[in-house]
Amino acid sequence: MRAKMEKMAIVALTLACATVGVEGAKAMAQEVDFAKIIVAHRGASGYLPEHTLESKALAYNMGVAYLEQDLAMTKDDELVVVHDHYLDRVTDVADKFPDRARADGRYYVIDFTLEEIKSLRFTEGFNLENGKRVQVYPGRFPMFGSTFRIHTFAEEIEFIQGLNATMGKDIGLYVETKAPWFHKQEGKDISKATLEVLRQYGYTTKDSNVIFQTFDYPDLKYVKTKLMPELGMDLKTVILITDNSSKETYELIDGKWQPYDFNYLLDPKNFAEIAQYADGMGPAYKMLFDLEQTKLGHIVPNNLVKAAHHAGMVVHPYTIRKDALPQWAANVDELFQAVLIDADADGVFTDFPDLGVAFLRKHEQQQ
Ligand code: G3P
Ligand code: CA
Repeated sequence: MRAKMEKMAIVALTLACATVGVEGAKAMAQEVDFAKIIVAHRGASGYLPEHTLESKALAYNMGVAYLEQDLAMTKDDELVVVHDHYLDRVTDVADKFPDRARADGRYYVIDFTLEEIKSLRFTEGFNLENGKRVQVYPGRFPMFGSTFRIHTFAEEIEFIQGLNATMGKDIGLYVETKAPWFHKQEGKDISKATLEVLRQYGYTTKDSNVIFQTFDYPDLKYVKTKLMPELGMDLKTVILITDNSSKETYELIDGKWQPYDFNYLLDPKNFAEIAQYADGMGPAYKMLFDLEQTKLGHIVPNNLVKAAHHAGMVVHPYTIRKDALPQWAANVDELFQAVLIDADADGVFTDFPDLGVAFLRKHEQQQ
């Protein structure tokens, strides 16, 4: 996968489009080659509400290699593109369906039909503070501004494939099944549904321009050893890694659902085993550094990327945001430099795809 991903002429093609037009860009496509990739995290979500088609279109034209899709399943078994398996952070569901929250106060995608979900207004994300909606990133697109709607996975694939046809490019999908363990608890197999849609649209082999990602390692093993063989598919895969404190994933042990221990995925001793199921790893970017020693102007990578490369895996960390920098980066370019160059990651997710592409362009010119 590393070697393949180092042939990302498409990034250069898109960059070129901005200056010389589509036909000129096509002609230049083979001449410039970025070694690393930029993934549009939920689209160009620093500029437009995450996962809207509008945000995907903007990111598409910023020169990324991949557009990300996070997926959840509706009551009537449709796959929708939305980050949480809840609706309350990014829609007006609490206004439209006030009595449909579960006991924990959350409104679950899985409790609503596609028709109901499409009736909601999709917005920049917010938290509730003392009963008031407070935008998570205040400098971003105004909360409930304009009109956006949630769409299905199939609609997004058709959107991207349509753009690929009209723009003469081949931008990829970077698809995450959200909380497969939760969908299983609810009697649904989100991974199977996702693979079936991908197959329907022609994504079936490792050469297909898609990466399948998940935080659920037990489910990834199921996908690789059972689902993909049964469906006649073999896609590139990335295992995502987070802190245990997030309680992102649960696994069934002796008939009981227990929080998954992500430390397993961070221990290089296990990388050869993990590489049997994953072509790459997607850790939080802070996991690439010795945070005891890393300070402003003094970046100290740990051995995670080296060990992953040794096991034959690429590393695509998440998520660079210019409006949420760590203390050890004075600006977003310093963070891109630390992650992509100092730590040698093969690509990165960012809410600001234009800044990632601009960083890579500048870096390549300096080589
Ligand atoms: O999938 C990579 C990155 O998107 C993981 O974080 O929580 O934004 O899905 P999250
Ligand atoms: Ca994701």
